[in-house]
Amino acid sequence: MAHTLEFIKWDRARYGLDIPAIDREHESLVELMGTVHTLHQAQAGRAALCAALGDLLAFARRHFATEEAYMARTAYAELAGHARLHQQILERAGTFAAELERTGTLSHEFFDFLAVWLHGHMAGLDAQYAVDSAGAAARTATR
Ligand SMILES: [Fe+2]
Ligand SMILES: [Fe+2]
Repeated sequence: MAHTLEFIKWDRARYGLDIPAIDREHESLVELMGTVHTLHQAQAGRAALCAALGDLLAFARRHFATEEAYMARTAYAELAGHARLHQQILERAGTFAAELERTGTLSHEFFDFLAVWLHGHMAGLDAQYAVDSAGAAARTATR
C-alpha cells in the first residue's frame, strides 16, 4: 500500500530532475519523509513524531521557496499555479501536524498524502518545470 517503506525511498531514476540543487533537496525531503515513516512503524512517541514532522515541514517550506525562485529565474509560465499547490501541501501537512499533536499518532491518510506529494507532485508536476526549463536553456543555447 501507499505507506510501505519502499514507497518513501529516494530513487534518482524515478525522481531525479537533472537539476542538481533541486535533486539534492528532493533527496533530503524523501529522507525526512522516510524518517517520519520509520518512527511511525516503530510506534515512536508523540514528541519524536512531532519533531520529525516538524523537520519535514520546515525543510519543505525552504524547498518550495527554492523551487519558486528557480521557476521565477527560468520564467516558468505555471509558477503561480505551482506556488498555490505548494501552499496547499503546507496547509494540509499543517492539519496533519495538528492532528498528531492532538492524538499522538499519524493516520494512514497522512502516508497516502505523502505518497501523492512524492509521486504526483515531485515526480509529476516538478518534472514539468524541469522539462520546461531544460527546453528554455536549449533554446537560449541555440540562439
Ligand atoms: Fe519539489
Ligand atoms: Fe513543487
